[in-house]
Amino acid sequence: METPYPLNTFLALWRSRASLAPSPDAPRTFGGHMAAMRSGQLAFFTKAHREHGDVVRFRFGWATAHLVAHPDAVRHVLVDNAKNYDKQTPGFDKLRRILGNGLLTSEGAFWLQQRRIAQPGFSRERVARFSKVMVEATDELVDSWLAPPRKEPVDVAAAMMFVTLRIAGLTLLSTDFTREARAVGEALNLLLLQVQRAVFSPVQDMLRHLPTPHNRRVTEAMAELRSIVRTTIETRRKQQNRPDDLLTMLLEARDEETGQGMSDQQLGDEVLTIFLAGHETTANALAWTLLLSSQHPGEVAKVTAEIESVLGGEAPTAASVQKLTRARAFVMEAMRLYPPAWMITRHAVNDDSIAGYAIPRGSLVFTSPYVTHRHPDYFPNPEGFNPERFAEGTLSKELRSAYFPFGMGPRLCIGQSFAMMEAVLIFARILQRVTLSRISGELPRAQPSVTLRPAGPVLMDVSPVQPRRVTG
Ligand code: HEM
Repeated sequence: METPYPLNTFLALWRSRASLAPSPDAPRTFGGHMAAMRSGQLAFFTKAHREHGDVVRFRFGWATAHLVAHPDAVRHVLVDNAKNYDKQTPGFDKLRRILGNGLLTSEGAFWLQQRRIAQPGFSRERVARFSKVMVEATDELVDSWLAPPRKEPVDVAAAMMFVTLRIAGLTLLSTDFTREARAVGEALNLLLLQVQRAVFSPVQDMLRHLPTPHNRRVTEAMAELRSIVRTTIETRRKQQNRPDDLLTMLLEARDEETGQGMSDQQLGDEVLTIFLAGHETTANALAWTLLLSSQHPGEVAKVTAEIESVLGGEAPTAASVQKLTRARAFVMEAMRLYPPAWMITRHAVNDDSIAGYAIPRGSLVFTSPYVTHRHPDYFPNPEGFNPERFAEGTLSKELRSAYFPFGMGPRLCIGQSFAMMEAVLIFARILQRVTLSRISGELPRAQPSVTLRPAGPVLMDVSPVQPRRVTG
């Protein structure tokens, strides 16, 4: 990465006649604001926005960074001027160590080619076909909760990781990862925290090759994930009748000019990306949804009434899920307050200005669903949980740039429809079958790493929903 501070900043100011964005006081250390960010990122960025406005400047080690919080500014970075903002950021650099050069982390013409190959795997018809597996996997999970002897309470955060991993495996890779789920969960947890640590503690990052117990665990976790992915691909290569799924699409794709297929390394990167991106985020969205449901019984009653009237006791399907607008609004509001991808970072390729403030070439730009989703001009009473904001389960025009849990623009999440259908189906099916109540009243702390998880296990009591009393 270039080192834009301070020379590029002043050149950018001079060239663009823009002004310097306001900035919180920074200690006169090399890291600048980095230490303050590290000690509490969510609070740091929300406070910076509240106190300094819609564009805030930071010093981030060598780099200048800007938080852009106004929806128009976010749209400028992710959509209108997306060409000027690439993914050469410390966060993506560290993520590349894990995922390699897959769909999430690659760029330019290569990314576009890979996206075109994968896109048909997420078509509306194909995603609709996955609904059956999604409901079956949820049913198996709920059955395991209710099976005697009852293992109460359950950790719903872990359970959501498990069920979404199974679903991603079964639908996209036609592989059941039940046996590997625990190892995958532990490895991913460690690696995602490691990404965050590496971004905010450059010194620790420089020492990552030392043979400390922690560094060894990180290496083992990487090896574990890569080995699961390798086995999945090798098994598929040997299969005579390959299933019609995303893995086969990736495996059989050929470069138009050279006729070459993907290398094993590239396939591995793509599969690992789908493996991670395809379940971890949705699992977090669901964990927060279930937590919030235990806190807002009035809102849950509205959702269950709708489930009752739309489904009448039948399992949800791809068609009926479209009618569950209250369930959808509930999930959307949970993702407003706890967006799983809470920070989306970019790097400015050329000088730019946003809202009259200079964005020098080479600097970092932070867009944060977590911060913008709390913008009081767009979300009155921002901390209040109110699914009515998304009445009908859709986005009003004015919220289209203010609400972006799946990102925006060319790099919009490829799995958005998959994830929304999955989250609503799982949420609805769980509410149909069981009541979950939280053991302790307080919501757990949100732990930001690459994604936003509830800190620690989320223990809840499970009881079966009483069969409907037939009246009349
Ligand atoms: C609630 C669930 C999910 C959330 C909140 C979420 C969020 C996001 C966000 C914010 C991005 C854009 C990142 C950026 O612009 O830098 C993204 C990209 C991506 N997501 Fe998701 N995602 C979810 C579920 C899924 C699922 C289910 C899949 C796959 C089955 C998936 C696969 C991907 C991939 C491959 C990309 C990279 C797309 C590209 O750059 O072409 N995601 N996701």
